[in-house]
Amino acid sequence: MKKLRIIMVGALAAGALYVVGPSTATAAPAPRALPAAQPKTGPGWHSPTPTTDLPLRVLARRHGLGVGTAINVTALANDTAYRERAAREFSAVTAENVMKWESLEPTRGQYNWGPADELVAFAQRNGQKIHGHTLLWHNQLPAWLTEGVADGSIDSAELRRIVKNHITTVVKRYRGKVRSWDVVNEAFTDDANPVLRDTIFRQHLGPDYIADALRWAHAADPTAKLFLNDYAIDGINPKSTAYYELAKELRKRRVPLHGIGFQGHLDLQYPLPIDAPQNLARFDRLGLETAFTEVDVRYFLPTDTYKEAGQVGSFNTLLSACLLTPKCVMFTVWGFTDKYSWVPEWFEGQGAATPFDENLQPKPAYRGLQQVLAVASDPNRRRGF
Ligand code: XIL
Repeated sequence: MKKLRIIMVGALAAGALYVVGPSTATAAPAPRALPAAQPKTGPGWHSPTPTTDLPLRVLARRHGLGVGTAINVTALANDTAYRERAAREFSAVTAENVMKWESLEPTRGQYNWGPADELVAFAQRNGQKIHGHTLLWHNQLPAWLTEGVADGSIDSAELRRIVKNHITTVVKRYRGKVRSWDVVNEAFTDDANPVLRDTIFRQHLGPDYIADALRWAHAADPTAKLFLNDYAIDGINPKSTAYYELAKELRKRRVPLHGIGFQGHLDLQYPLPIDAPQNLARFDRLGLETAFTEVDVRYFLPTDTYKEAGQVGSFNTLLSACLLTPKCVMFTVWGFTDKYSWVPEWFEGQGAATPFDENLQPKPAYRGLQQVLAVASDPNRRRGF
């Protein structure tokens, strides 16, 4: 409660400075003039003061917080401005696609390590930690696997061997290099009564496949932090409660689960998960790490200043929730520039979901993140990132 108040006051003060301006001590104050209209381009209201205009990774350091981004490996190879910005702003990286099963093992038994290795090398050059994404997911599986299961040429016993082997091979290769893994991604349905999603893993390995996967990953790298990760669990709702119950059970059984990843794919047309701090707090009390792993804030184009302002608030709400949670170790955005964001491709008519525009210039959302990191008091360097 105390921490919540400190940060809220800080955030309010940051907003109030501009609106109210310096107070005067005259007996009969003249009515305050309205502020002059701000230009829409150039140095507007969100232009930084020198002390806040520091890279996110620098501002986050005193909180012991990792600030991450998903990386598009093609852009990393071809776009110098992208590469430089990624190195400068972030202390953590996640592969947007190249550590998914279809990318790592497109042909059975033949691993394609190249792109993932490039990302690992980039991170190491730049002192960045790596969040591995993702060992098991029902999407972006190789065709040989899904087709083999569908036509019965891969039976349940064989699928179990294949999954164990995949997890072991991948985790061992990056042992000591990947700080944390999304071991299972998006395991629950998102209806009113969430249950384990009906994937090939659930079908053929049984409902305990999650515990098995965690154990296999732990055996392959005992130092990696093992996460379950999902969307629409940022606030308190039936799906996040299903995770809470599962996490409690796995911890009780001493299954090696170390963290929960909250994807944080927000959309301005839906309610903001304003109770994210309370949600993260209950996982924190189980002794788990927490992290926002894929934050972006989409809306219907075209952009206007109202939507931009809403976006600032949405990013800041999730970042504040993380800062308020003692073991929230990382705040990662799902791409940092609109130039390569997945949103326009996946959500028709929507976009502009990241903190930098298509020219890699900072947007108000970026200034907001800087300000929250700069203003938040009571820093907690013991998060363990
Ligand atoms: C997305 C990528 O951004 C796209 O490039 C790809 O085509 C599909 O997957 N939740 C996740 C991510 O866990 O892996 C997804 O990434 C976005 C939603």
